[in-house]
Amino acid sequence: MGFEMPKSFIFRLARRLRQLVRSLPSFKMSMRLAVYAVTALVLRELGHGWFLTLLGVFTAYLLSGGYKFMRILYYTFPRDARALKVLINAKLKMKSLAKTDGNIVYLFRQTLRKMPYKTCFIFEDKKWTFKDIDEYSNKIANFFYEKGVRQGDVVAIYMESSPDFVCMWLALAKIGAIGALINFNLRMESLAHCIKAANAKMTVYGGELDKAVAEARSLICNDMTLYCLGTYNSDVLQASHLDPLLQQASNMPPPTDHLTKFKDPLFYIYTSGTTGLPKAAIVINSRFFYMSYSLHQMFNMTDDDILYCTLPLYHTAGGVLGVGQALVFGNTVIIKRKFSASKHWDDCIKYNATMIQYIGEIARYLLAQPESPKDKAHKVRLAFGNGLRPQIWEAFMKRFNISVIGEFYGATEGNANVVNSDNKVGAVGFTTMIAPQLYPVTLIRVDEQTGLPLRDENGVCIKCKPGEPGELVGKIIKGDPLREFDGYVNKDASSKKITQNVFAKGDSAFLTGDTLVMDEFGYMYFRDRTGDTFRWRGENVSTAEVEASVSNIVHLKDAVCYGVEIPGNEGRAGMVAIVDEHQSVDLDHLADGLKKSLPAYARPVFVRLIKSVDEHMTGTFKLKKTLLRKEAFNPSEVSDAMFFKDVMSGGSYKPLTKDVYEAICNGTKRV
Ligand SMILES: *[C@@H]1O[C@H](CO)[C@@H](O)[C@H](O)[C@H]1NC(C)=O
Ligand SMILES: *[C@@H]1O[C@H](CO)[C@@H](O)[C@H](O)[C@H]1NC(C)=O
Ligand SMILES: *[C@@H]1O[C@H](CO)[C@@H](O)[C@H](O)[C@H]1NC(C)=O
Ligand SMILES: *[C@@H]1O[C@H](CO)[C@@H](O)[C@H](O)[C@H]1NC(C)=O
Repeated sequence: MGFEMPKSFIFRLARRLRQLVRSLPSFKMSMRLAVYAVTALVLRELGHGWFLTLLGVFTAYLLSGGYKFMRILYYTFPRDARALKVLINAKLKMKSLAKTDGNIVYLFRQTLRKMPYKTCFIFEDKKWTFKDIDEYSNKIANFFYEKGVRQGDVVAIYMESSPDFVCMWLALAKIGAIGALINFNLRMESLAHCIKAANAKMTVYGGELDKAVAEARSLICNDMTLYCLGTYNSDVLQASHLDPLLQQASNMPPPTDHLTKFKDPLFYIYTSGTTGLPKAAIVINSRFFYMSYSLHQMFNMTDDDILYCTLPLYHTAGGVLGVGQALVFGNTVIIKRKFSASKHWDDCIKYNATMIQYIGEIARYLLAQPESPKDKAHKVRLAFGNGLRPQIWEAFMKRFNISVIGEFYGATEGNANVVNSDNKVGAVGFTTMIAPQLYPVTLIRVDEQTGLPLRDENGVCIKCKPGEPGELVGKIIKGDPLREFDGYVNKDASSKKITQNVFAKGDSAFLTGDTLVMDEFGYMYFRDRTGDTFRWRGENVSTAEVEASVSNIVHLKDAVCYGVEIPGNEGRAGMVAIVDEHQSVDLDHLADGLKKSLPAYARPVFVRLIKSVDEHMTGTFKLKKTLLRKEAFNPSEVSDAMFFKDVMSGGSYKPLTKDVYEAICNGTKRV
């Protein structure tokens, strides 16, 4: 009887061998090492000293391709070393805070002790010192404590930006409760949805929003306790006026028997996401600290810097990165109820601001203002934020004489954050190429159709090469506060943002959903929100690219681009909606400009001029793309003026009448 090896055994053996070979350094690497060893031996044999031998080996290393790495090392070492220093300091600081159960309230009290009479916030020409903030938030904390609000309870906060808004969540934090920071632009269903999604016990709203609350009252759970801060209007059913009640409350620190831990939730911030209703993301104390701390250090802020903040405080940019500079570091922050392009530089001059915050839209609004001597008459040295388009980056710096742009990329809830800390034009940030293990944030290849990560034969994701677009991901490491993903209040939503086997088998990572490109030095450039490309005439069209071009041609007006389906055509035809309140868009000029800046397939087939912005803008000045896409190009359903690219007349834009619409849909008119 012959010896027969079972098939499964052979398979197992083959798999083992393959694994073994994989775990060895790659073949090229081994060859290189061999070359170095031989060089060293030969030089030693020839009787050379150690110095020459080492020099020889180094030369061999350079010749065998090492010069590439040396070049990267030379250019990026100072940058990476500085970032590493900030990272290590942040980790040490967080360790000690975690040990002593330090939280944001504790950090605020430290700032308060150091500078009780320094101005913390300036709002509508009123100055609030740190002591004012402390005493007012103590009153609120004591009041809610008496009303039975305890650690872990959630209170929804629905107010316009003001110091009261900050005092409100700070007060809740003082008794271990959690504020749900609700976007003050929300109305009706979406407002009620956010309050419900947070499982809020009570809601505090600003008097300025009483109409919105009255309107949505029947949608918000009937036994919800409502408090109004500010101007009280008794129209809202079952709401109490908070101001007189607070007058009787003590301004001494509340009886906090359960001190919140460093890793406990501080508040909820809602992220809009690309689909569906807003999701409540949990911001824990340590994340608030880490985000404010790292930006402060990476952007070389000093504690004397004065920040002018026009961003809403219910989002991370204004509410954490802006407000955090005041609470954690003692910077003075000027809070504005709303952004105003015409008052922006006047305010910066008046308040001696040295830093401003932006989002891409703000930068564009400022550039679209008529030039004025005020443009350069301020002391603003640093502008930080995200979404500054590379196309207007340098124009923005030059016109407003701003020496440093601090662009960053990061999701409220994510762990894949990058920061452009050395004024590199166009980059949203960088990751280290010298020691990628130290900062496991990278780009991976994704399937263009499904948007899912592509994987190698072992099921592990594939890293992008320099210049190759990919999705930004951040490795999740349990127990490391810098690398954890705190998730949403809704657990299902959390699991959708995580994928397994990314850097290696068995690990997991947070998916940002955004496409970036990285250069050989590790600088990253924003490309697209995944899904924000569409195919037309067999080509990829990047909506961001079209938007940037259109916006440049029409003098920095807001524009959004999206794909719409035309019956009988593959893919989606490009459509661009331009905000045009004063009917000043010159369509011939647009058509000419597009011919110069975009390939034919990317030039929008349809143009829509939006007369009224309100119903099409979100709270952060973004046009509502999904709504526009749904409304598409049917003239009987859209009241705005619409135009189509007429190929018969050389690609100029002609009015989209009902007849033209019919002809396009039944295929008699080609586009
Ligand atoms: C701004 O600075 C000037 C001079 O440095 C000072 O006189 C003025 O009071 C400052 N303004 C504010 C609002 O602090
Ligand atoms: C631009 O800013 C720098 C300092 O950031 C300042 O020295 C220079 O005078 C400013 N230029 C103008 C034209 O105001
Ligand atoms: C901060 O300072 C470092 C070193 O002085 C410099 O290289 C870097 O560009 C600065 N970054 C910002 C954002 O000011
Ligand atoms: C579209 O883009 C993807 C990468 O995002 C690329 O792989 C593909 O080749 C592109 N297709 C065309 C037709 O350019």
